[in-house]
Amino acid sequence: MRILSIETSCDETAISTIDASGSFGKDFRYSVLGNALLSQAALHAPFGGVFPNLAKREHEQNLVPLMQQALADAKLLEHGSTTTEGIAELLPRETILREQLLAFLNAHAKPLIDCIAVTHGPGLEPALWIGVNFARALAQVWQLPLVPVNHMEGHVMLSAATEDSIAPISFPLLSLLISGGHTELILSKDWMEYSLLGSTRDDAVGEAFDKVARLLNLPYPGGPEIARLAEEFRKTGATPSVQLPRPMIDAEGYDFSFAGLKTAVRRYVENRELSPNEVREIACEFENACADVLVAKTLRAIEEFGAPTVLVGGGVSANTHIRNQLASSIRDYGYGTKLLVPPPHLATDNSLMIALAGYFRAQKGAFADPSTVRAQGNLKLHE
Ligand code: KG4
Ligand code: ZN
Repeated sequence: MRILSIETSCDETAISTIDASGSFGKDFRYSVLGNALLSQAALHAPFGGVFPNLAKREHEQNLVPLMQQALADAKLLEHGSTTTEGIAELLPRETILREQLLAFLNAHAKPLIDCIAVTHGPGLEPALWIGVNFARALAQVWQLPLVPVNHMEGHVMLSAATEDSIAPISFPLLSLLISGGHTELILSKDWMEYSLLGSTRDDAVGEAFDKVARLLNLPYPGGPEIARLAEEFRKTGATPSVQLPRPMIDAEGYDFSFAGLKTAVRRYVENRELSPNEVREIACEFENACADVLVAKTLRAIEEFGAPTVLVGGGVSANTHIRNQLASSIRDYGYGTKLLVPPPHLATDNSLMIALAGYFRAQKGAFADPSTVRAQGNLKLHE
């Protein structure tokens, strides 16, 4: 089955084409045919975070060129033309997108794709709607089935994926999902079944990285910047003299809290001229605090639920220190638990993850009537 997948939930516009076959745990295989992505991070940087209306406009401008690239890389671009009936009604307000799509359809025939997958949540609703409306239009003109995909399930799939399949997973599977919008520990007793153990009560861990970066006058997105400076400090062999809290590390249950950590940084930096080395020191201590909390909760869940497989996904799973701390502590724990992490360059948002989740959802017959698919900013993965 060839899938064209669309991701516009935040500030990455992405379109992939994959070819996939078989079933999970049996003969599943996939290959990436095309994988096109445009990050808007540099455009949002002056705002210190994602500016929803800017994200929406950029998605509108970028979707058709990225689709063209993803299809061309897959050698699936067909010259000819497609009828454009219904496009005006399906994209009434998305003028730029509509005009670009009409031009594309006038010059290209239907590609050899079997299914369209699109992120319908969670994320920024105005941004999600652009992808959803685009997917609805494509499904209509090409008469293809449409699969709505949960963005967080996409992160899970990518962390579980190998280069051409899915890694063997023993259940229960514990997933630590850490991104700009989410911090969740999820338990799966079976493939694609999710129950929530705990989540953040305030800021997501990626959000805390971004906010602390701002306090330290570092550019958006803050995660990679803090990670780089923290590593520079660690290399000196010194221990940070500043001490930050490890919020809720000993609290019962699996909830998290990162707002207090950010506030502690704010208090510390207030009315202070920071030297470059002090900035590195704070970055290091902040990263250590996040890692300590994430590791402690994950280890406790491994023990309580006897999880033989742990998966880490979402943008923050690109963080080398957090990955290393999880890997070494899980190894030292001695339960033989296997840790699955995504390749760092695929930890942050992309559309390959949506294609994989879309394939498995399609296998379950989770197609939707295009006219009923809606963007859902707060869509949940778990019951
Ligand atoms: O999954 P993602 O790309 O988008 C959401 O679905 O939210 O995650 C983005 C988040 C941002 O907060 C960014 O600062 C963080 O992931 N991030 C990192 C790193 N790379 C990205 N956080 C810590 N260390 C990193 N290396
Ligand atoms: Zn994400």
